[in-house]
Formats: sequence, structure tokens, C-alpha cells
Amino acid sequence: MYNLLQGKRGIITGALNDMSIAWKVAQKAVAEGAEIVLTNTPVSIRLGTINRLAEETGSIVLPADATSVNDLESLVDGAMAHFGGKFDFVLHSIGMSPNIRKGIPYENLNYEYFHKTVDISAMSFHKLLQVLYQKDALRAGGSVVALTYIAGDRAMPGYGDMADAKAMLQSITRNFGVIMGRERQVRVNTVSQSPTLTTAGQGIAGMGSMIDYVDNVSPLGNASADDCADYILTLFSDLTRKVTMQNLYNDGGYSSILPYPNQILS
Ligand SMILES: NC(=O)c1ccc[n+]([C@@H]2O[C@H](COP(=O)([O-])OP(=O)(O)OC[C@H]3O[C@@H](n4cnc5c(N)ncnc54)[C@H](O)[C@@H]3O)[C@@H](O)[C@H]2O)c1
Repeated sequence: MYNLLQGKRGIITGALNDMSIAWKVAQKAVAEGAEIVLTNTPVSIRLGTINRLAEETGSIVLPADATSVNDLESLVDGAMAHFGGKFDFVLHSIGMSPNIRKGIPYENLNYEYFHKTVDISAMSFHKLLQVLYQKDALRAGGSVVALTYIAGDRAMPGYGDMADAKAMLQSITRNFGVIMGRERQVRVNTVSQSPTLTTAGQGIAGMGSMIDYVDNVSPLGNASADDCADYILTLFSDLTRKVTMQNLYNDGGYSSILPYPNQILS
């Protein structure tokens, strides 16, 4: 323990069960001294195990569907009431594609589903930032982090419409990062995580063999959900005060390597 987040308070979205990246962030943030508010959709709260996490971390759970500005306003109001004022960090750990869930390939997308993918996985981040901005909810020196995947920067049609949603999420990070930086002294970044076996991760076709492949290619091997949480804590801490508007890879080096067949080396 480093007491990295002593005296800091924040909202953590997206903890569904103990595989969730957000679950690990919540546990580690509290271990580092933070006070947190957890949130998820009413249905995920019911079907998942977030209440167990709340008990373990001494936190409250405020339900909110991140596609609803009203819900997000209530969430931020509720968090400010709970903390007794402004807070320091927010994790956006939200993603879902009905097209992927139903196994619909990129060249045959259902556009109603595509709207949902973008609303849940990308536009929700703009909505969250806009509510945080309008309510002036974050303290100077604060930090907002969203989770993304390399398919947001490189072609990977197997990741379906989520690839487009992640590209949009990363763009929102840069654009809102300007406003949050200039006007509120708040950082906004994305962490681009290795493929990880979570409930969302398991939805991607061929995920198991893809994880093994990427693990082999990455010099340090794949980053786990625990590794991801450790990295996110540094971004919430005061040690990264000037890091903003970045897409930061937590992927064992995968994003910088040109994969080649093993036989070329042997
Ligand atoms: N697992 C991976 O391989 C991987 C890799 C890179 C990035 N990510 C990203 O990490 C983030 C967290 O995913 P995870 O892998 O921990 O899976 P997860 O399934 O545990 O978390 C996804 C969360 O999104 C929540 N969610 C869905 N719709 C919502 C809505 N309308 N409002 C609020 N919350 C909603 C779910 O309830 C769930 O808690 C996602 O953004 C995902 O795209 C995952």
C-alpha cells in the first residue's frame, strides 16, 4: 500500500461481478485510502454482485443508467450529498453492444442496435463528463478515466461496432479533456487494456484464442484486470498531474509490436 488516494473520493461505474475491471479498481482504490460511490444499472445491480462489493468497501450503490442524463444528474447529486461536496475521480467502465451479443457481424449491423452500442459505450462518457462539468462536481487536480480497447485505433472488424464506439470514446476524451483541463484543472484519459476475460470480454467471438495469441505476442504478456486497476490508481493519484487527453496502453507492449510469424526468428 502507498496511500496513493488518501483523502480522495470518487465514483466507480461498471462493477458487475468480481471479474469486472471496475471491481478491482474499487477494491484497490479503497485500499489506497479512497472513499467511493459505486454505480451500475438497476438490472446489473440485481443480476450481479455489486452489493457484496459495497459491503466489503464500505461504500454506497447509486443506480444509474449511463445513457440517461437524468440518472447521471441524480448520481452526481447523490455522490456530492454523500461526500459532502466535490469529489476527485471518476471511472467510466461501461460497454455493451447488442450486435456483438447477438453475434451479428460488422458487415450486417442492425442500426437500432448500433445506436445502442454507441449510446452505452461512448456517448454515455460525454453525458457523464457534461453532467460533471455543469454541476462543477470535480475538485481541481481531479481525474476521469475511461476504459478502451486497441480496436478503437486499429482495424479489427471482429470487435464489431464496439470498435467504432471506442474510437468515439477516445475522441470524446480528447475534446472534453481540453475543456476540463482549461476550465477545471481536471485530467481526462483512456486506458487501453489487454483483452481480459470479464463478462463483457466473453461476449467477443473467439476471445479465448485471441487472448492466448496476444499474450504470446506481447513482450510482457497480457495485462490482467488487477494490473489494469493498479495503473488506473496512478491516474487517479497526484503522481500524474500533467497527464491528460491521452490514450494510455496497459497491454504488455502489444500496441507497439509488429506481430510476425515465429519462424522468421528461428
Ligand atoms: N474485457 C476486455 O477484454 C476489455 C478490454 C479493453 C477494454 N475493456 C472495457 O472495460 C470496460 C469494463 O468492462 P469489463 O471488461 O470489466 O466487463 P463487465 O461486463 O464486467 O463491465 C461492463 C459494465 O458495463 C455496465 N453497463 C452496461 N450498460 C450500462 C448502462 N447503460 N449504464 C451503466 N452501466 C452499464 C455493465 O452493467 C457492466 O457492469 C468496458 O468499457 C470494456 O469495453 C474491456
